[in-house]
Amino acid sequence: MVGRSSFLIVANRLPVDRVVEQDGTASWRRSPGGLVTAIAPVMQRRHGAWLGWPGAPDEELEPFEQDGMNLISIPLTAEEIELYYEGFSNATLWPLYHDVVAPPVFERSMWEAYRAVNERFARAAAAHAEQGAVVWVQDYQLQLVPAMLRELRPDLRIGFFLHIPFPPVELFWQLPWRRELVQGLLGADLVGFQLPGGAANFRRLCRRLLGVPYKGSEIFLEDRIVRTQAFPISVDFGELDEMVRRPEVVSRAKEIRMELGDPEHVLLGVDRLDYTKGIGQRLEAFGELLKDGRITPGEAVFVQIATPSRERVEEYRRLRDDIELQVGRINGETSEFGSQPIQYFHQSYPKDELAALYLAADVMVVTPLRDGMNLVAKEYVACHHDLNGALVLSEFAGAADELRQAFLVNPYDVEDLKRQMLAAMRATPHELARRMRTMRRRVATYDVDRWASEFLSSLESPSASEPAMSRSASWPSG
Ligand code: ADP
Ligand code: F6P
Repeated sequence: MVGRSSFLIVANRLPVDRVVEQDGTASWRRSPGGLVTAIAPVMQRRHGAWLGWPGAPDEELEPFEQDGMNLISIPLTAEEIELYYEGFSNATLWPLYHDVVAPPVFERSMWEAYRAVNERFARAAAAHAEQGAVVWVQDYQLQLVPAMLRELRPDLRIGFFLHIPFPPVELFWQLPWRRELVQGLLGADLVGFQLPGGAANFRRLCRRLLGVPYKGSEIFLEDRIVRTQAFPISVDFGELDEMVRRPEVVSRAKEIRMELGDPEHVLLGVDRLDYTKGIGQRLEAFGELLKDGRITPGEAVFVQIATPSRERVEEYRRLRDDIELQVGRINGETSEFGSQPIQYFHQSYPKDELAALYLAADVMVVTPLRDGMNLVAKEYVACHHDLNGALVLSEFAGAADELRQAFLVNPYDVEDLKRQMLAAMRATPHELARRMRTMRRRVATYDVDRWASEFLSSLESPSASEPAMSRSASWPSG
């Protein structure tokens, strides 16, 4: 049983998913996505508790400990999963915040469920937080929690971090519940974004929608100040760097290359199967390089890991069909006996297997149409102490702000994709080492611990201009 905590993480998901087999046996599996990758090591090094949904419907679980973390389960019914998680979170907010690359669904029943579930999270956080505790709320699924929690517990220090992009005012404006969402976020003392552009979009929106003024990074409510700032998220560089030096990982990487037929170039994509990731665009470009004869089937193999994700959401179902059809078509048109140029895997892997894959890959291809950060790009860099390996990276991934030495690409431009993939394959070892050295320095310096400690020290330090008065929410009438 976990008591009250002085430090709480509140996220849609727990870091592990409850998996119940057909015979009724249950086990835990690491949850997908970048949020868990980033927060789990932070949590393992600090005392506190993590509140989240265990990934299956109607799971009423007592607080428990797993991998050195105290976990508190928030149950969701099947209907809530459909309306709050698959619906408002992933059919409304996700596409809206990612440049509307798919049409967002606006449905009142989804919004009602989102509000109700956010309230459940806020109540649970209020019940588990010590007097004056620090509560760190995560991501777009829980944007109403900061204000709801402040209402219940004005003594808390509340931080919020958005892992995905924050859209320009013109796009956000479409949302029928835009005012409520912004008011929800303004319940926090500190709202963190991946990039300065996201923070600026949010401040502009606050002024236009609620009439609240801002100066620099501070938004002035009637009785308190909300700080907004960019904190680019990162990976556990030390863990990955150590992992890829282990003899068993090194030999697994060699084995992977042999299993692929020992081609000259191994290209790799690792993504949740999500329409924001630009998987179809990169495969199209690779297919054209083969058809144009600029690379030969035995010369290069493209390994695409497409992690199962949000499989009951319509857009994701359609995407899976499209990608699998495309892989079949390209392989059908370009394969030779005994070798398939695209190797496609719709599976999850343990961390060390993924590290071996990164190590085995000559070219990492990361081409999202829009992405808050993209940790895969940083993981690849962390795995190449050999200074070998090229990163082809979309200009529309947050990571492109830091990894300027990547082969930067516009994923909407198939010719550019082809050019940069070829350039990455043809670059000299000296050129690759020059680029990789600089990128590694950046990721090693700004690792996930630094990200978390910068966010938390900013959250815990009072703003220079913050008045010492009650911190309850209030809105200017204008
Ligand atoms: P997102 O948060 O949108 O999923 P990121 O690239 O930021 O995208 O993070 C994805 C995380 O999930 C990375 O840490 C990556 O290693 C992990 N991951 C992706 N695919 C797999 C997979 N098939 N098996 C295990 N982990 C995976
Ligand atoms: O930030 C991206 C994100 O949506 C996280 O919030 C989430 O943990 C991850 O991707 C995986 O998505 P899901 O929880 O919907 O499987």
